[in-house]
Amino acid sequence: MKKLYYTYQMIHKLGQSIAGQIKESGFNPDVIVAIGSGGFIPARILRTYLGKPILAVGIAYYDLNDKPMDYPRKVQWIEEAEKKLAGKRILLVDEVDDSRVTLEYCTNELLAYHPEALAVAVLHDKRKEKRGKFPPGVSKVFVGETLGDVWIVYPWDALDIDAQDRNAALAHGAGI
Ligand code: G4P
Ligand code: MG
Repeated sequence: MKKLYYTYQMIHKLGQSIAGQIKESGFNPDVIVAIGSGGFIPARILRTYLGKPILAVGIAYYDLNDKPMDYPRKVQWIEEAEKKLAGKRILLVDEVDDSRVTLEYCTNELLAYHPEALAVAVLHDKRKEKRGKFPPGVSKVFVGETLGDVWIVYPWDALDIDAQDRNAALAHGAGI
């Protein structure tokens, strides 16, 4: 699969663009929920622009014996979630909408707390057939950039950040 590299600078600008879309839409979240680990840095960038607190959740595709599963499970969740989320406007953040299975799972879990509204923000949406779907309770999905079915290489996965930046420059042109 084709690899597409991103720098922190590019990720930050995608975050800024998503925050702009959110403000323009009139959706004013009370709280950001970050899906770890890929959603942590995007959520933190959105916090800079939206100024809202972040709660974190952890989801895994491995069972307790490290065996892969078809569906995700919670490995970390929000303490007193009902109290923190009932009646609130939630912005759920992840880095990529790939199969949509994680996002379907997390949106359903969050809707069970009866928030006033639930919207989703992702840096990237992949144009492909999705295994998961958004429940009707999701009012809006904000996307930084829509891509084909490529493999996105995020800067936080880089062991050599200078090589990451060079690869991103090659792929996206000198304008970064
Ligand atoms: P989705 O529901 O949000 O679409 O995600 P899905 O469960 O399909 O994704 C499974 C895992 O694969 C997720 O990581 C997701 O971030 C990762 N993934 C999917 N496509 C890409 C890609 O193009 N590039 C990278 N770097 N990762 C991708 P995870 O298991 O949640 O791990 P992590 O978030 O802790 O990294
Ligand atoms: Mg992820």
